[in-house]
Amino acid sequence: MATILIIDDEQNILVTLARVLKLEGYRSEVAGGGTIGLKKLSSQAFDLVLLDVKMPDIDGLQVLERIRAIDAQLPVIMMSGHATVEMAVAAVRIGAADFLEKPLSSEKVLVTVANALRLRRLVEENRDLKSLAGLQSDMVGDSPPMRALYEQIERAAPSNGRVLITGENGTGKELVARAIHENSHRASDPFVKVNCAAVPHDLIESELFGHEKGSFTGASSQRRGKFEQADSGTLFLDEIGDMPLAMQAKLLRVLQEGEFERVGGSETLVVDTRVIAATNQDLKAAIGQGKFREDLFYRLNVIPLHLPPLRERREDIAALLDHFLTLACRHNNRRQRRFSVKALQYLEQHDFPGNVRELKNSIERLVIMVPGDEIAIADVKRWLSLDPAGSTGTTPAGAGFYSSDLALKDMMANAERALIQQALQDCQGHVTNAARQLGLERSHLYKKMKNLGIK
Ligand SMILES: Nc1ncnc2c1ncn2[C@@H]1O[C@H](COP(=O)(O)OP(=O)(O)OP(=O)(O)O)[C@@H](O)[C@H]1O
Ligand SMILES: [Mg+2]
Repeated sequence: MATILIIDDEQNILVTLARVLKLEGYRSEVAGGGTIGLKKLSSQAFDLVLLDVKMPDIDGLQVLERIRAIDAQLPVIMMSGHATVEMAVAAVRIGAADFLEKPLSSEKVLVTVANALRLRRLVEENRDLKSLAGLQSDMVGDSPPMRALYEQIERAAPSNGRVLITGENGTGKELVARAIHENSHRASDPFVKVNCAAVPHDLIESELFGHEKGSFTGASSQRRGKFEQADSGTLFLDEIGDMPLAMQAKLLRVLQEGEFERVGGSETLVVDTRVIAATNQDLKAAIGQGKFREDLFYRLNVIPLHLPPLRERREDIAALLDHFLTLACRHNNRRQRRFSVKALQYLEQHDFPGNVRELKNSIERLVIMVPGDEIAIADVKRWLSLDPAGSTGTTPAGAGFYSSDLALKDMMANAERALIQQALQDCQGHVTNAARQLGLERSHLYKKMKNLGIK
């Protein structure tokens, strides 16, 4: 229950208010003047203050100002017998939550107190949500390559330099782009993202530069493009390797001259937009194949940042598991879970070809599907199909089954036999479960086992 401080020089008001609040279940403390009230506030925590305006020692408005200096959030309700509009306005301006006119009605007092406390709770909840969102955008991982990356982000962020972020799928390229924006002086201006692979080729120019009404079929009104939307902010060009060649030339011009026109427009627009691009492609190779303009590459690649795949920074896996376990439990309104020691070891030994995104999704699946507080190794094996360490990267999948002196049919049989045996082992020989795991009918699995000679 909330604790309320009542500050008033009239003894009978202190007594009456304290009684009214107590009947409603609040705790309260009383102070017969501003000075003693402020003293109590500095030594004890309160949830709300009821404050008289006219007091002999210090004026209530002055007390309110001092309270604000101590605690910017504490709700203070002013009370006055000589309320004027000006006084009420002044009180609200210095941050009073509300204003009560004397003589006080206990009903009015209780409603006003309840409202102010509710508002305060909302503000606090909102702050918690924001810090939760902040947690989400935080980057996790303390491995040497990640530490080097944080340093580079810190140095690159405050500048206006263009950044090209490279790395495999799911390594955190977008997260890095946002981190750069958030740590720059552009943070309070928009971060606008364009996925170059997702926009149809014939619409990408209008997407980036906007268009005038009637400039093409379907352009029924004028539209601002992403470059304009990101003015004084950051434009994130994701999957830049998929930008069509014709568009690359136009992009080059904006990057060189800082100017462009809307599609169908004659006015030349100038914007202050910082460009960050990302790709999982090898742009140097694309240049060699004539798919990417070399001059554009150099324009974009002022500050190169590379995100190593997870298999090259296994030290980070434990911290990421921990981070996403906490996040997934909160998102899904589950109690905090933990991994058994064996489950942790097992997860740490595996490659995540889909990198951080795959790891994150895997944890979320476990949190949703496993009912108990502890996630055991059997749960991990049951719900995730993980690649053992070293199986991804340069070695193509299936290489282990390849043999130069076998026909494809026989190699396939070997692979099938090994996979079924693995599934059976995972399910402790339980054929029905193994069949379910393999997506087969039980009878079908039996037939295969017989043909492949599996007992
Ligand atoms: N170091 C990290 N710490 C915490 N979360 C991370 C980290 N790296 C990536 N993530 C999370 O993993 C997910 C994938 O990251 P992101 O979308 O940035 O990857 P990406 O490289 O852009 O992937 P893609 O190439 O598939 O677009 C996101 O949910 C992101 O928040
Ligand atoms: Mg991405």
